[in-house]
Amino acid sequence: MTTPAHVAIIMDGNGRWAKARGLPRLAGHRAGVEALRQTVRTAPELGIRWLTVYAFSSENWSRPKSEVSDLMGLLKLFIRRDLAELHQNGVRVRIIGARTGLEPDIAALLDEAETLTAGNQALNLVIAFNYGGRDEMVRAVRKIAEDAAAGRIDVPEITSETVSNALDTKDIPDPDLVIRTSGEMRLSNFLLWQAAYSELVFLPCYWPDFTTRQLVEALGEFAARERRFGGLAARGVAS
Ligand code: IPE
Ligand code: IPE
Ligand code: MG
Repeated sequence: MTTPAHVAIIMDGNGRWAKARGLPRLAGHRAGVEALRQTVRTAPELGIRWLTVYAFSSENWSRPKSEVSDLMGLLKLFIRRDLAELHQNGVRVRIIGARTGLEPDIAALLDEAETLTAGNQALNLVIAFNYGGRDEMVRAVRKIAEDAAAGRIDVPEITSETVSNALDTKDIPDPDLVIRTSGEMRLSNFLLWQAAYSELVFLPCYWPDFTTRQLVEALGEFAARERRFGGLAARGVAS
């Protein structure tokens, strides 16, 4: 079976999972963190080398203040509680998304997670936090424009590689497979540039109900797909 080297997941449906049980949304987000823990443990066993998860979008700030603060609290808790175990298991953590404007304690935790795990190789865990594909592209365009204005790059020399290298995902391969849970069939501003040729799999289950079974199901669907990248012959993993 062809295993995708890089799986990216839009972890959606925490709120609806909670609502279906008559619980507050926070309970859904907590259950979602547990599903994330399990997925991080299982992914390397299934041959996945890169796992990117959409944890908080640049648009999620528009949610009620209390929910935003619950989500920030859960991220802090996740890093504080799980960082040692992640490190022990050889997980390298990287965070993509805008870093400016974050609470200083959150920014410090993100830096700490990246620094501590920088030498690990068992699994690359990329957390998309305060991330939006459009925001990422705007920041990249600014960087390239600054380089051009300062004479560090000639405009005709700008290629798709220049753009890739200016994105938060510099040095991270494009996702082979993007999974979204909760039945919604949209990208919601996730990896807009990077998912150009990703296979998309939409699962009906809410994120807290996502287990190894659903992951294996998505991998099976991926293996049955024919990737062409615009050509005529099927091609395997693009990394
Ligand atoms: C995904 O679950 C988690 C985040 C966006 C942080 P939601 O909170 O979007 O849950 P639903 O979509 O309302 O069910
Ligand atoms: C996408 O889910 C963001 C995350 C999973 C972090 P949303 O729930 O925010 O997306 P929409 O609003 O349904 O498009
Ligand atoms: Mg949602």
